[in-house]
Amino acid sequence: MIAGIMKFIIETYGCQMNVADSELVSAILVDAGFEKTEYINNADIIIFNTCTVRQHAEDRVIGRITQEARRKKEKTDLLIGIIGCVSQRIGNRLVHQISALDFAVGTDQYLQLPDIIHKCYEQKVSISQLTVNHRENYENIYPLRKKGISAFISIMRGCNNFCSYCIVPYTRGRERSRRPKEIIKEIMRAGKDGYKDITLLGQNVNSYFADGVDFPELLYLVNNISEVSRIRFVTSHPKDLSDRLIEAMASLDKVCEHIHLPMQSGSNKILKLMNRGYTIEHYLGLIKNLRKAIPKVAITTDIMCGFPGETELNFYETYQAMQEIEFDYAFTFKYSPRQWTKAAEMNNQIPEQKRLERLQKLIKLQEQITLKKYQHYIGKRVEVLVEQISKRSDKQVSGRARDNKIVVITGDKNLIGKFIQAKITDATKWTLKGEALPYQ
Ligand code: 5AD
Ligand code: SF4
Repeated sequence: MIAGIMKFIIETYGCQMNVADSELVSAILVDAGFEKTEYINNADIIIFNTCTVRQHAEDRVIGRITQEARRKKEKTDLLIGIIGCVSQRIGNRLVHQISALDFAVGTDQYLQLPDIIHKCYEQKVSISQLTVNHRENYENIYPLRKKGISAFISIMRGCNNFCSYCIVPYTRGRERSRRPKEIIKEIMRAGKDGYKDITLLGQNVNSYFADGVDFPELLYLVNNISEVSRIRFVTSHPKDLSDRLIEAMASLDKVCEHIHLPMQSGSNKILKLMNRGYTIEHYLGLIKNLRKAIPKVAITTDIMCGFPGETELNFYETYQAMQEIEFDYAFTFKYSPRQWTKAAEMNNQIPEQKRLERLQKLIKLQEQITLKKYQHYIGKRVEVLVEQISKRSDKQVSGRARDNKIVVITGDKNLIGKFIQAKITDATKWTLKGEALPYQ
């Protein structure tokens, strides 16, 4: 620590919500006089923002904490803390079990972080602060984002859906929407700061509602903000995806042609056990309506296999649905039992080996579909908003097409923030390669 200013670093795991929360926590700490660093060797405080959606995610981060704990041998006043969903689940236990862990703070307690850190540092105590506050919305805090072109704006927190496999309602509490006025204010400011591509975030954006404004209405309001060029949103729940939202997507020029619509399973029996609130027929109907209203729409999804009671036939129904729909991309997962959830108590848990075999089949299928879909783009022209220098080469830049596909083109840092018309020349499993068209 130099001259009393403590430097912190945050290592973030999990979903975009956690990325947004790390930006929020950064702002809270900087406002309180701490300094942010990107280099772990310089840090006086290491904070892990964690995910517990699957056991694997949790094990990984606990491994990382133990790894970094070794630093305390050389830097005895280093503080290590855990925040986010793992902290909310077992933070109390962890601060007792891992002697190097100084604090565990829950998802609704981030405003307490500066005080907690000071107390840990001055009194050499370990602290857990995990109280749930179903109303905490972190209003009036402008998140500290990495400089760039795209920004996440969280529009709501928590979840009320209680899908039977999911721990989120327990780690993030009840659903609460931020006021439209506050959201618009934040987006205008982000726009002035140079962020052009805005992603509105919530566990289930389709149930957004505050001050008489629902989600389609919010999209209309955001579309009017001149500083912003592109609008995206995640995640949509199929049970709440309305015709009005599809209409808004089709008619608003800044709303991009992409939707992430988790299907989870293609079997009605499993969807029911999951408490998803829709049938596969309903889901297929939504896909049809989306593709009709927005012909260029890219559809991505989350799929789970090995849910309790999933027979070979039920699994095959999922496999078939994926073949029929041809998602642009699918995040595939094997079911992981989670504390507090109904599914963890269900009979007929599927053996790990079987879950893994099924997962491998889904991954293979989706790889083929994604490659085929991506190859379709070769020779076509897309609008790319350039975001950064490519990770592979400083003679290339990468950005996204409106439908969220990553496109790499030849060029340098002067292109960052520009809209480029590119012709696609090649496609791999995850990225498109293109050349900027000469007449711009
Ligand atoms: N096991 C495996 N995957 C899960 N997901 C949520 N809970 C679990 C679980 N218990 C997946 C779902 C969700 C995505 C974010 O993570 O597919 O959409
Ligand atoms: Fe992980 Fe879910 Fe928490 Fe996001 S909300 S960090 S996915 S457990």
